[in-house]
Amino acid sequence: MSKYMKFAISTTIGLVLLAGQALSDVRHEVLRNALVNNGLQPTVDKPLSELGELGKEFFQAEALSLNGEISCQQCHLREFGSGDGIPVSAGLSSQGKGRERVESAYRFLPRNSLALWGRGAEDFNTFFWDGRVDASSGSVVSQFGGSPPSDDPLIVAVHLPPVETVEMLDFDEVVQRYLQEDADLASGLYAAIVENLRVKEPNLIAELATISSKSVDAVEFVDVAQSISAFIEEEFNIHETDLHRFVFQGGELSEPEINGGLIFYGKGRCVSCHNGPHFSDLNLHAIPFPQLGQGRNGFGIDYGQFNVTHDPADLYKFRTPPLWDVGNTAPYGHSGSVATLEEAIVAHFDPLRLVAPSQMAKLERHEFYKAIAASGENLLSISYLEDSEINDLISFLRLLDQPAE
Ligand code: HEC
Ligand code: HEC
Repeated sequence: MSKYMKFAISTTIGLVLLAGQALSDVRHEVLRNALVNNGLQPTVDKPLSELGELGKEFFQAEALSLNGEISCQQCHLREFGSGDGIPVSAGLSSQGKGRERVESAYRFLPRNSLALWGRGAEDFNTFFWDGRVDASSGSVVSQFGGSPPSDDPLIVAVHLPPVETVEMLDFDEVVQRYLQEDADLASGLYAAIVENLRVKEPNLIAELATISSKSVDAVEFVDVAQSISAFIEEEFNIHETDLHRFVFQGGELSEPEINGGLIFYGKGRCVSCHNGPHFSDLNLHAIPFPQLGQGRNGFGIDYGQFNVTHDPADLYKFRTPPLWDVGNTAPYGHSGSVATLEEAIVAHFDPLRLVAPSQMAKLERHEFYKAIAASGENLLSISYLEDSEINDLISFLRLLDQPAE
């Protein structure tokens, strides 16, 4: 080989390598820009405030349920990404954590527990799978109607679990009594819960009274809700991840992570719904996740947002789940019907892969057709993804894992 030939070959190889390096730099840059344009912020970790510390105690207090059986924390545990690790939450009287709760439960909620990451952020304005607490219009729309207990939607959301039957409230004589005696069931129940706390957790109520500059007798449920909400905001703010280090400190990502990120913001069109700093538009859409359990409407049916708005256009719509720590919040979907991240992604573009139609009950199959029909445009917009692309997406999503406690 002549000297010139060798020179030409080595120059070509050099140029190809350089082009490869440049391309890889471009891919990193494109992904960084996509993340920053979607509002990714550097994280700030602060210790809990005095109010947050107190809220933590209430969050763990079983006396927050009238029959003293269940605390918030039992269904919102850090080791399950602040969910409970089971498909649909096990309500009153279930014991332990994770699968133990299923075995000891006698009643279940219709929905999969939600994580709490980022829920205290100022722009987080739509709560629950069906958006039944919604402040996206500027004022809080909820079952409290025109007089919500607070104009902070998280504080309003915190009001719901303690008065949801099965969740934290047994439909026992206490409720019966309030139904008979008090036209305003809800305010009667909140008064009873605070009374319960005054008896069983006198120190917490005394501390709350001091912080709120009130007498012990004047403490109301909204004060308790405020402290729990401070705890949620401070404890479940987003902590630093490899994704932050990649964007703000020039950290490295692996090839599958970069590729997954580019699919997320590109071909997969995940960003059309999982956008913004919470990886959710906080809007409601129909995606045909299979249904598990009784459903909010009974008989294995869950009409999603329709339950809130009664608008047929909202049938089978659920709020886009935020994705922080999603690697630790399995199972997935509004009824926890899907066990893995891989299946959760498949549900968006090939839902029939996840079910055996011939083995479904007739009504169940009929419901699933309707959920698929309601998802029409979304199914049309999401591309087919190869298994390798799904795996890359999962590598990217695992970058959102929150550090262990
Ligand atoms: C029996 C299990 C259980 C208990 C106890 C429980 N939760 Fe939940 N939590 C859930 C489930 C299930 C959901 C989703 C319900 C839905 O959207 O229909 C949820 C949703 C939430 C949400 C909404 C999150 C979001 O993304 O919109 C907040 C906030 C919350 N819970 C806070 C609390 C607080 C505070 C307590 C205690 C007062 C509590 N939870 C007690 C199971 C539970
Ligand atoms: C049209 C809006 C939309 C698009 C596009 C979309 N999603 Fe979703 N995603 C949703 C909704 C809504 C749910 C919840 C559906 C349900 O529970 O019934 C969901 C659920 C999920 C879940 C389960 C999360 C949990 O906590 O249960 C994951 C993971 C997920 N999506 C990832 C993706 C990925 C990856 C893409 C891109 C390939 C994508 N999504 C595209 C709206 C969307």
